[in-house]
Amino acid sequence: MPKNIVVIPGDGIGKEITDAAVDVLKKIDKKYGIDLTFSFYDAGGTAYDKFGVPLPDDTLNAAKAADAVLFGAVGGDKWDNVEPQLRPERAILGLRKGLGLYANLRPVQTMDELIDYSPLRPDIVRGTDVLIVRELIGGIYFGDKCEREEYNGTIRAWDLENYSIPEVERIVELAMQAALKRKGSVTSVDKSNVLATSRLWRKTAAKVAEKYPEVKLDHMYVDNCAMQLAIKPTRFDVIVTGNLFGDILSDEAAVLGGSIGLMPSASIGEKTSLYEPIHGSAPDIAGKGIANPLGTILSAALLLRYSLDASAAADDIESAVKKTLSDGYRTADLFSAGSKKVDTAGMTEAVLANIK
Ligand code: NAD
Ligand code: IPM
Ligand code: MN
Repeated sequence: MPKNIVVIPGDGIGKEITDAAVDVLKKIDKKYGIDLTFSFYDAGGTAYDKFGVPLPDDTLNAAKAADAVLFGAVGGDKWDNVEPQLRPERAILGLRKGLGLYANLRPVQTMDELIDYSPLRPDIVRGTDVLIVRELIGGIYFGDKCEREEYNGTIRAWDLENYSIPEVERIVELAMQAALKRKGSVTSVDKSNVLATSRLWRKTAAKVAEKYPEVKLDHMYVDNCAMQLAIKPTRFDVIVTGNLFGDILSDEAAVLGGSIGLMPSASIGEKTSLYEPIHGSAPDIAGKGIANPLGTILSAALLLRYSLDASAAADDIESAVKKTLSDGYRTADLFSAGSKKVDTAGMTEAVLANIK
């Protein structure tokens, strides 16, 4: 049976990086005979320009019916002033909600080859291996919103942060399960000294952890976690946190690995999963052909491992990426004197050449 991969390039560098990942998947498919088929759909500003909506029904329905979704990125200055419900970002939020993707896994590892690319000292980042488990379809992103209300002569807007016990339970469960396959430690990150939602989060996390005596759970306030990630990232194994904190901490953690352009993610939930790099559409470099495609290529590896049970093929892509970086190939975001500077196509070629 062919495996149907729905590819949603989106905006900005989205097409450049998904094209690269599809090339890699095609080569892997030839080698392993997985029988992949690809179909391409619009989303984001590109879809808004064509159809007047950021997430056409066709795209959402195709994603729901797919074996897996590979997503690029959406957004850009061009659409900064469109109505809030029609912004490009609504496409990815709608896909996450529509597919029930409650867990976003964002692994961050510091490869020895890239140790000098982090702005942090090598002795601090060496050996970093963190999995951020971000809740993805709840919290302040999806709570009641008011864009603008006039009240007592002034304008007010609000976004409501809310979480229920089952929403926290399922994401913490997933983090515990992940920790069992890793170093056995989970840090639950919240702001329970101030926020009611965080107090519920902390209590619920502690309760779930009682079922996992082999896993060591600790709790940390998000402000301290932001600092600890920069001071001692190696103290973390799995971090589990809410939607907004997870968004912010994962961009911060990305620099531990050298560049946000390297970071993949897997969003999993009820049925079909979605894979995307953690970065955005990078409008500042879009169209120049210089974006780092590795975050998307590594997301394709996660797709093979989690959605298609093709772990040998996934390992193969990850080894090819490592070898390419060890050989000194670098896109501009990681470039330094002495390395081999390549553009998006050059990096993709180098990875393809390492899949024998
Ligand atoms: P961004 O991640 O797009 O870019 C931040 C910086 O990182 C930029 O300097 C960019 O050039 C660089 N960068 C990002 N990816 C790179 C890559 N693959 N190779 C080399 N450099 C890379 O974040 P931003 O500038 O805050 O947001 C731009 C747009 O993307 C916004 O519209 C935002 O809403 C959107 N966004 C979308 C997603 C998504 O679709 N999942 C994620 C984040 C941001
Ligand atoms: C991400 C992005 C998205 C988010 C935006 C584009 C809605 O920043 O995937 O990290 O905030 O989740
Ligand atoms: Mn983000």
